[in-house]
Amino acid sequence: MRYDESTIEKVREANDIVDVVGQYVRLTKKGANYFGLCPFHGEKTASFSVSPRKQIYYCFGCGAGGNVISFLMEYENYSFQESLKALADRAHIDLPEPKDGGEDRGARELKRQLLDIHKDAAMYYYRQLQTPEGAAGYRYFSGQRRLSDATITHFGLGFAPKASDALYRFLKDKGWSDEIISASGLVTIQETKIHDKFWNRVMFPIMDTNSRVIGFGGRVMGDGVPKYLNSPETLIFDKSAHLYGLNFARKSRRKYMLLCEGYMDVIALHQAGFTNAVASLGTAFNEKHARLLKRYTDLVILTQDSDDAGVNAKLRAYPILYDAGIQTKVLDMSPYKDPDEFIRAEGPDAYETRIRQAKNAFIYMIEVLKKHYDLSDPAEKTAFYNGVADRLCMFREPLERGNYIDSVSHEFMIPKDELKALVDRRIEEKGAGIRYDDTNRRPRVIEGQSLQTSGTAAYPEARSGRNGAAGTAKKPVPLSVQQNEKLLLSWICERPDLGRYVFQHIRPEDLQTEIYREIAADVREHPNHFDAASFLDRCGEDDEKRKAAAAVFAEFGNGASLDDMSRMDLEKGLSEAVRHVLRAGIDEKIASCSDASELGRLQQSKNELRSFKITIT
Ligand code: GTP
Ligand code: MN
Repeated sequence: MRYDESTIEKVREANDIVDVVGQYVRLTKKGANYFGLCPFHGEKTASFSVSPRKQIYYCFGCGAGGNVISFLMEYENYSFQESLKALADRAHIDLPEPKDGGEDRGARELKRQLLDIHKDAAMYYYRQLQTPEGAAGYRYFSGQRRLSDATITHFGLGFAPKASDALYRFLKDKGWSDEIISASGLVTIQETKIHDKFWNRVMFPIMDTNSRVIGFGGRVMGDGVPKYLNSPETLIFDKSAHLYGLNFARKSRRKYMLLCEGYMDVIALHQAGFTNAVASLGTAFNEKHARLLKRYTDLVILTQDSDDAGVNAKLRAYPILYDAGIQTKVLDMSPYKDPDEFIRAEGPDAYETRIRQAKNAFIYMIEVLKKHYDLSDPAEKTAFYNGVADRLCMFREPLERGNYIDSVSHEFMIPKDELKALVDRRIEEKGAGIRYDDTNRRPRVIEGQSLQTSGTAAYPEARSGRNGAAGTAKKPVPLSVQQNEKLLLSWICERPDLGRYVFQHIRPEDLQTEIYREIAADVREHPNHFDAASFLDRCGEDDEKRKAAAAVFAEFGNGASLDDMSRMDLEKGLSEAVRHVLRAGIDEKIASCSDASELGRLQQSKNELRSFKITIT
C-alpha cells in the first residue's frame, strides 16, 4: 500500500458513491438503493445498483462491482493512484506524498519525461518535412495522399530521415539521457550499436485524448515491408487503450463516431470534414476501446475496409460495441477498399450519403452469414435459419429480440413464426446460466472479477493498480470460454467414445480452464472406462477444483440422454461444441496478436470454422 489506510479511507468517505456514480450513470432511487443502466455492459433494463449505506455498486447483469475508487478505475481506465487522486481533488483534499512513494514518484516522473521526449521527437519529425531530405515525405503526403498543409500540421505529420541515428543525435543534443531515450522505444541502444526505430518513413504521431504524443506510426513511402511500423508499448503507450484521432473526434459536433482501420483513413476523413473518425492502432478493436468510445457517443458507424479482413473486423467490433451499450451501423464502401480511397474517388457528399444509408450491424452480420449458404438447397437453407436463430439469442431483452426477429424475417424472407419458435426453443433450452454464443462479447476484466469474487463486490485495494491484475501469473478464463469448454466436456464425459472425434481437432491442453483440461486428458486416456466418480476422488482437497468438476458432471445428470439422439443431431451438437472451443482459442490469439499478417491468417482459420463439421462413422 502506497498511501496509508487512513488517507484512502478519508478520500473514500469524502466522496459519496451515489454522487460520483451519478455523474456517469442516471440513477433512480428504489427502496434503500439506487438503480441505473450498467455502464460496463449493454443493457436496456437497470440491473446496476448502488448502495448508499454500504457505499458499493454491483451489477446483477454482469457482476461488475466495487467501491467508489474502483468505479473510477473501471470507468475512466484509471490506475488506483489516479483514481484516488481524482477523488481527492474532487473533495478538495490535499493528498500527502505517498508513504513509500519513491518508486511511485519515480514512475510519475518517468511518465512525464517520456511525454516530453515524445513531444521533442514529434517536433523533430515535423520539422524534417521542411528540409531538402524531408521533401520526399512532404511530396508523399501532399502529392500522393492529397493532404493539405493544414491537415499535415493538424495531425503533426512528419518525416524520419535516412540516417539511422538522426533522431538519437537530435535528442542527445537536446540533453536527453540514453536511459530516457531508450525507454521511449524510439531508439534502440545496445552497447555501442545505436539506431533509430524509424528511418526513411513518413511519421504519424499518436496522441492520447488530451493531444499529448505517446507514440508513432511510420509508413514506408511507396511499397515495402513492413508497410507500417508502430512504437512499442511503453509506460505511456498502451495500444489497446487508445484510438487514433479520438483527441479530435471527441470534440466533433457530430453525434456518432466513425470507426475505421488505418491512420490514413482517419486523416482523409477528418480532412473531408468527418472529424468524428477514429481507428484502433494496428490492434483489434477491444472492450477497452468500446468503453472509451462510450464516454463520447452512443452510436458508432463501422467503416473498416471492404476486404475480408475488414469484414471480420466489423463482425468482431459489433458485439463488443453492443455490450458497451453502443448502437452500431455498418457503412457500405463498395466498390472502394477504404474510406481514404472512397473520399478521393467520390468526395465527401457521396460519403455523407453512405453514412445516411448505413445499415443495422445485426442485419449486416446476417447478410454476411447468408453468403455461406446456398439457399436453393433445403439442407443449407435450414442450416442458415438455425444460424440466424443462434445469433438472435444474443439479445437478452424479449422486446429487443422480438424487434430483431421481425426485421430479420422480413429482410431475409424467413417465415416469422418458425424463426420465433427456433429462437424460443434455444432460449428455453440454454436458459439461465449459459451465455449462448457470446464469446468475447463481455469485458474480460469484469468477468474475471465476478469469477474471483463469486458475486460479491471486488475491492480494488487488494490489487496494485491498473496493471496489477494483468501482471499476475494467471489471467482468469472468461466465463463464456468456460461455458463452451464445459459444454464440450459434458458431451465426452457422457459419451467418452465420441472423444476420438473431438480429439482429432482439440488437444486437452488447448482448453483454457485448468480443471477441464485435466478431465479431457483423463477421458482421452480412458476412452472406454472413464469414471467420473473416481476422477472426482482423485481431484483431492482443492475446493475450487471439486466445484468445477462437479459442475461438469451435473450437466449430464439431467436433460435428455445422448443415446436417444439421431446421428445427425449428435454430429450437429458435437460439431457446434468443438467449433465454439476452437473459435474461443482463435479469438484468444486474435486478441493478443498485433502482427497484421498473422492476424489475417487467424481470421482466415476463423472463417473456415464456419463450415467445420464432424462426421460420426
Ligand atoms: P495506406 O496504404 O497508407 O492507405 O494504409 P491503410 O491504412 O489503408 O492500410 P491497411 O488497411 O493496410 O492497414 C490498416 C492499419 O493497419 C494501418 O493504419 C496500420 O495501423 C496497420 N498496419 C498495416 N500494415 C501494417 C504492418 O505491416 N505492420 C503493422 N504493425 N501494422 C500495420
Ligand atoms: Mn488505405
